[in-house]
Amino acid sequence: MGNARTMDDVFSAIGADLRAALDRDPAARGAADVILSYPGFHAIVAHRFIHALHRSGLPLLPRWLSNVNRFLTGIEIHPNARIGRGFFIDHGMGVVIGETAEVGDNCTIYQSVTLGGTSLSRGKRHPTLGNNVTVGVGAAVLGNITIGDNAKIGGGSVVVRDVPANATAVGVPAKIVMKDGVAVSAAPEEETWSWVI
Ligand SMILES: CC(C)(COP(=O)(O)OP(=O)(O)OC[C@H]1O[C@@H](n2cnc3c(N)ncnc32)[C@H](O)[C@@H]1OP(=O)(O)O)[C@@H](O)C(=O)NCCC(=O)NCCS
Repeated sequence: MGNARTMDDVFSAIGADLRAALDRDPAARGAADVILSYPGFHAIVAHRFIHALHRSGLPLLPRWLSNVNRFLTGIEIHPNARIGRGFFIDHGMGVVIGETAEVGDNCTIYQSVTLGGTSLSRGKRHPTLGNNVTVGVGAAVLGNITIGDNAKIGGGSVVVRDVPANATAVGVPAKIVMKDGVAVSAAPEEETWSWVI
């Protein structure tokens, strides 16, 4: 996962990122459109090289370059974040991906998503996303939690617990509303609240 070791890996991942934008954005008008006009694509391309520099042990420069990347795209990705192939950041402004975040293959995130930490300790403190995960606009996924393969996180949600594979989680704090294509009913106390309101 997000573990490019050679320049071949980097270029191969970038090719997959380009295809991801073309496949997942109905507004994309072709490769030139994405290459010229998609800040989410620019940010992940830059990150692939910055991450390779970071893995080589180079001090300071990767962090500075990621700051330049943020200045140019509005997307902040820590050089250490491990991001799988076929990653698509749509729109992108305000996205933050923390130092120990891990993202599987073929994930999609929208503007203002945070993959953030909840702890000040230096260890693993950011989320791990499986493959084919979608995180909706403005969602915050916080802490050393795992979002399973094919999971969907609703726009505006705040996720602080693991989400299983093939589930949809929405709300603040996020609750599972769908699992394996079947609606999951709310807990009794939540039904009471909707009745009171
Ligand atoms: C979470 C999401 C993927 C669910 O889509 P879906 O599988 O079609 O599910 P539904 O729309 O049938 O919603 C299922 C339930 O969750 C609720 N829900 C859906 N999205 C929600 C959200 N973001 N916040 C709170 N509740 C939400 C629905 O109201 C519905 O509740 P109900 O069963 O009580 O009526 C989708 O709503 C979403 O938020 N996608 C993000 C898209 C995005 O970020 N777009 C940005 C484009 S710029």
